Parts: sequence; C-alpha cells; structure tokens
Amino acid sequence: MCGIVGYVGGQSALDVVIAGLKRLEYRGYDSSGVAVLADGGLAAAKKAGKLVNLEKELVGRPLPAGATGIGHTRWATHGGPTDANAHPHLDNAGRVAVVHNGIIENFAGLRAELAERGHELGSETDTEVVAHLLAESFSSCGDLAEAMRLVCRQLDGAFTLVAVHADEPDVVVGARRNSPLVVGVGEGEAFLASDVAAFISRTRSAIELGQDQVVEVRRDGEGGGAAGVSVSVTDFYGAPGEARSYRIDWDASAAEKGGYDYFMLKEIAEQPKAVADTLLGRIDAGGALRLDELRIPDSVLREVDKVVVVACGTAFHAGMIAKLAVEHWTRIPCETELASEFRYRDPILDARTLVIAISQSGETMDTLMALRHAREQGAKVLAVCNTNGSTIPRESDAVLYTHAGPEIAVASTKAFLTQLVACYLVALYLAQVRGAKWGDEVRDVVRELSEISGEVERVLETMEPVRELARSLAGKRTVLFLGRHVGYPVALEGALKLKELAYMHAEGFAAGELKHGPIALIEDGLPVVVVVPSPRGRSVLHDKIVSNIQEIRARGARTIVIAEEGDEAVVPYADHLIRIPATPTLLQPLVSTVPLQVFACELATARGNEVDQPRNLAKSVTVE
Ligand code: G6P
Repeated sequence: MCGIVGYVGGQSALDVVIAGLKRLEYRGYDSSGVAVLADGGLAAAKKAGKLVNLEKELVGRPLPAGATGIGHTRWATHGGPTDANAHPHLDNAGRVAVVHNGIIENFAGLRAELAERGHELGSETDTEVVAHLLAESFSSCGDLAEAMRLVCRQLDGAFTLVAVHADEPDVVVGARRNSPLVVGVGEGEAFLASDVAAFISRTRSAIELGQDQVVEVRRDGEGGGAAGVSVSVTDFYGAPGEARSYRIDWDASAAEKGGYDYFMLKEIAEQPKAVADTLLGRIDAGGALRLDELRIPDSVLREVDKVVVVACGTAFHAGMIAKLAVEHWTRIPCETELASEFRYRDPILDARTLVIAISQSGETMDTLMALRHAREQGAKVLAVCNTNGSTIPRESDAVLYTHAGPEIAVASTKAFLTQLVACYLVALYLAQVRGAKWGDEVRDVVRELSEISGEVERVLETMEPVRELARSLAGKRTVLFLGRHVGYPVALEGALKLKELAYMHAEGFAAGELKHGPIALIEDGLPVVVVVPSPRGRSVLHDKIVSNIQEIRARGARTIVIAEEGDEAVVPYADHLIRIPATPTLLQPLVSTVPLQVFACELATARGNEVDQPRNLAKSVTVE
C-alpha cells in the first residue's frame, strides 16, 4: 500500500528511484511521483495512473540531474488518484518534498491550523500537511531530521514519511509509525524504502527500523554507514534509537520476472521450490520436527488450551485449513478469524491461548492490530510470515518464516502454499511436544509433506487443458466454486483469485450449503468448479460431494471437477476433469489450489486484464 523510495549516493537519483519504484509498484499504482535535489533547488514530477505515465512525463519534461531524491507509487486513501493528489507533496516555497504511506488521522485539524497561518494547500490529501509542517519546523531549527521529529510528534495515525529539503542536498530523512520502512546501505549510497525489493539489486545490507523512529541518511557524513554515507537513527524525541542490521537472503533475480510475462506466472512456477524451501532445515535426521526459531518454550506450548488463527485475504484461507490441521493433529480447539473482525468482538483470550498471525507481507494493518490486541490480553502470538524484519514478526513472540522469496504479483500464490506448509509444521510441532501424536506418526506426515513439492511440480506440468478451459470461459459473468472440509477454503481461494484477477462474479461455497440457498443460482451453462475430497480417507465426504455434483449438473451447471488420480466415481458427472495427485486428505490444498491459480491467471489474461496489478488492489494493505 504505497511504495516509497529515498536515495542518496553517487548515481542519478532519478534513475535509482524510478528503478526502485518499479519494484514497489505492486504496493499501489494509482499515481506516482519523484523529487530530486539539484542545483541548489528541488525539482519534482508526478502523474496519475501507472508509473509508465510518469516515465512518459519525464521524457517530455526531464528533471535536472541530482544524486539525492525520493519517489512514491500510490494506493489512494485521502483524495482520488489525480495528478494533484499524487506524491511528493511540496511546501509553498517548493523547498521541501515529502512522500507518505499510511493515514494521518488528525490531518483535518492540522490543515485548518496551517490555513490560518497562511499556508495554501492544493490537494485533498492528508499528506500535504506534513510538507507544510516540515517547512515551518525546518525554518526554526535548520535541520531536516529534527524538523521530522518535531512534526511526527504532532501526528496521529499510521505513517511512513520520507522527505528531502533543498537546503540539505545530501540528506534524506525518514520516519515510521505502524507502517514499513527499511534502510539499505550500499557502497557510498543508501536507500530508504517500504520494502527491500526496491534496492535489492544494489545492496543486500539492510537496517530494520523500530516503531516511532526517525532515520537520517547523509552523504559523506560520519557514523555507522558504508564509506561516504552515514545512517543515524533516533526516536521521535532525538534519543539514539536501536536498529538491527541484517543481510537480505533474497537473490536480486528473485525480484525480476525472469523471462515470464507476469510475476504471477513466475510465482506460480516457483511453488515447488517455495514449498521445499519452507521445509528446509526444519526436519532432523530422524524425521522429527525441529523448529528452533520458535522462541516459545515447549513448556508454554504444552499449556496451550486454545489456538486462534488471524489473517486476511488469501492468508485467511490458509488459516481456515490450519484450523482443520491443528484440531485433527493436536485435539486443541482452534478457531480462525478474519483479522479485521477479531478485536472488535471482544475475543476470549488468556495466557494459554496461542494466536497464529499469518501474513505474507508482515505489514497488514488489520492483522497487526489483531495481534497487538491478543498480546495485550496476555496471549502468545506466533507469526507465520514471508518478510524478514517486517512489523508483524517483530511484534510477535515468535515467528516461523515461510521461505517463498519475494512475492510481487498482487494475487498471492506461492506465499499461500508456503503458509499452508508452515501451518502444518506448527500443528505437527504442537502435536509432537504435547505427545498428541506418536513420533512415527509425525514422521509419516513430515515425509508426506516432503514429497509434496514433487507433486506440485507434476500438477504444473499438466496445466495446458486448464488454460484452454479458462480461455473458453472468458465471456462468462459468473463462476461458482464448491468444496468440503479442506476443499471449502480452497473453493473460497479459487473464487477470490477470480474476483481479484478476472473481475468476475465468483463465489465459493461449502458444497453442503448448496441446498440451503446457493443452488438457486444454478442455471444452464453456469460454470461450477468442484474440489473433490479423496475417495480414500473421509470417503463419506467424497460420496456426498459426488451427489452435489449430480444435483447441480441436473440443473444445467457446467461442471469443472478437480479430483485425485484414480477417482473414477466423478468421471460420469464431470464436463471437465482436472486431475491432481493423490495426497493425504489434509495436505490436498497444496495441490488442488494450483489449477485454480492457473485458471484465474489465464482467464484474466484472456479478458485483457493486468494480471500483476489488478484494479483497486494493493498487495500490502497498511491501513485498517
Ligand atoms: C491484500 C492482498 C492479498 C493478501 C492480503 C493479506 O488484500 O491483495 O493478496 O492475501 O492482503 O496480505 P498479507 O501480506 O497479510 O498476507
């Protein structure tokens, strides 16, 4: 949700900032803008629409060359996606420029006060007040970092702010509260960005900022940074701040499309590796689980009497599946709740509750607020997260990282599969430490999990008929998805993918609910995807869903059936049959979700939609 880049170094700031924004465009793409310090002044350009519009603008109206700059790609909150509302925002003298991610809740009052003091504000944004406040504070203290501290103390809400001032041409200043900002330290250059993807091609040394901190990066300064650049961190009152340095273990190429037309296609293809990587180092030589990074002592885990999973979007669907695994393997009651609803219903939590917060980005505000609420009530929070150093793992008691690598496409794919793997590991670990399962039972599931990566690969090799089917449905208005047990969240995920990408009416239902209402939607030719559970294991469910398929087909539905190899019972009722490898019941989502991702991606492409950047969405939603 809004991508921010700041740069000081020896290169063209404009080139570096634009390259960084391209990597962050997944965070928002309503408008974009840049500001560069050059020739003793400040030059800015901004444009509504995607980054390419700004690039065109810069060709027609080039900015002077400078080696300090900031940039922004926006997901609009206050004020529509117009040129005027695009960031950076400048003060009236055009000496200070600021970019912002988040929401400044008290902006209306601040704006009125600024107007009274003679400032003219030209946009509808909450951000513009910051530019004016910074200009005022700078004129009294003459130091941009100090001005930022003074301003932050006046702001309510969530914000990442990055600013430059024409009078300090070697300095970029950033601040964060409840919104992400990382520092990249390279050879004679430094970066401030919402996410390491912005600078990973230039440096893998990063500094994680804490809550309520201000950072100044300065060329040719003294301090802790690389030669030629200093980095200093304080709190909002100027006291030196603690900041952790770390090495980014993502490869620079991980943030490239690598020959694929879309990031989403690449990320779908990376799933076998992502699944395998998430298991790596977590299984000992004897096949038992070792989750050393789980900083919650086994003695505490043995006392847990309730598990609550909180998450949003696709991660919520992973959480629904986690519930089934936790309850089945550990016999501990588990509930899964939308993070955005969680704290508003006064949930019952205590020191024996384990809350699992699942988030790819580690920055989703709804999830962050849910976990803060849980910790305030004394519950232990375990994050399942894909982004090292992000806020959610930092504020949790423990974290289990999913090793999916950077996920750039807005619609989540490989992160989902790795979230499932991580949740299975947590559930099995709980079963192991509490003795709910025998060691050999845990080892059996762990072995089955280790084989899944190869099965995902096999699914990917057989996707051409799914793509063909998707293209043939490009003209349809509605697609329904049905599933039972673990197939139900998979059905919801299939529908979500189609909504996000193809902008079609898509709904997922528990197949058993069909007769209680949704069956009225069935009409001639309506495509209905059915995720069929294995005929082995819970065969009773299988038989019921075969009946459900017959019921909808009798009413004219065009049935698209996802069923495991060897399941012959579904063949007579499937207009289209998508085969998936046989897996243990609980692990089936790892293979059954993949055709639905491919289906949505291809259908969106056939409809001419932007696959990586669907309209109105953003990947990392840092507002509530
Ligand atoms: C947004 C994205 C979804 C994602 C959800 C949760 O809505 O568009 O793809 O599933 O946020 O994101 P998180 O980073 O917390 O997993």
